[in-house]
Amino acid sequence: MSELNLILLGPPGAGKGTQAERLREDFTLPHISTGDMLRAEVTQGSDLGREAKRYMDAGDLVPDEVIISMIIKRVEGPDAAEGFLLDGFPRNEQQADALAEALTGLGRRLSAALLIEVGDDELVRRLAGRRVCVKNPSHIYHVEFDPPKHEDVCDQDGSRLIQRDDDKEETIRRRLQVYHSQTEPLIDYYDRAGQLRRFDGTRDPDEVHARIRATVAALRLEEKL
Ligand code: AP5
Repeated sequence: MSELNLILLGPPGAGKGTQAERLREDFTLPHISTGDMLRAEVTQGSDLGREAKRYMDAGDLVPDEVIISMIIKRVEGPDAAEGFLLDGFPRNEQQADALAEALTGLGRRLSAALLIEVGDDELVRRLAGRRVCVKNPSHIYHVEFDPPKHEDVCDQDGSRLIQRDDDKEETIRRRLQVYHSQTEPLIDYYDRAGQLRRFDGTRDPDEVHARIRATVAALRLEEKL
């Protein structure tokens, strides 16, 4: 069986969610977004959601013990048996080690870490102008770069568009700091393992998508050989 076990890596606002939505359809993979899972817990008002919200609003990482078990359970689940697209996990070396260990335990391995690269100034512009669907957060827009047809209305389901709580300028700056100090070292981690693939995220979303899709299609072919 050919599996595609993929990670989308990159700073906040690089376009991980935007690309995941397209790749999910191309390759029929479950899109596992830690951010979306945590925001769903916040909306439900669960204990986990209340605990996570403090960290998310500050732009900090939610503690590993909360995240790791949540994601590993998901990766071991039946819909991820033929592969997955992880978005927002891992975010530090402990999380990366936990994922590698879980995959080894299942007799599986990571196919690739897909890195989307964008500079900080552009990321701030993207996050400050981002709007998401209140009903389905994977419907993502930008007031300037990808506006909906009708202001503040989702093209896909007609729901209201909102700004995420952590898309305020001071929280965005903090998220970028956290990315550079805690997540960026994973670029080296996956490069050393020969699993890193780099993409220029400053290009048009369709072009970024075409390049990632071609790489993933080649990986799938290699897995089948
Ligand atoms: P999370 O939800 O994962 O946020 P993030 O990593 O900060 O990433 P974003 O969702 O902000 O950006 P994206 O790369 O998906 O960009 P998008 O496609 O939306 O995490 C939120 C919080 O949860 C964290 O701060 C942390 O507290 C917690 N958390 C999550 N995972 C965790 C973990 N593993 N451990 C601990 N804590 C965790 O695009 C952004 C904008 O740009 C959009 O408006 C889009 O339309 C536009 N855009 C996209 N591509 C392009 C392009 N090519 N050109 C122009 N505009 C574009």
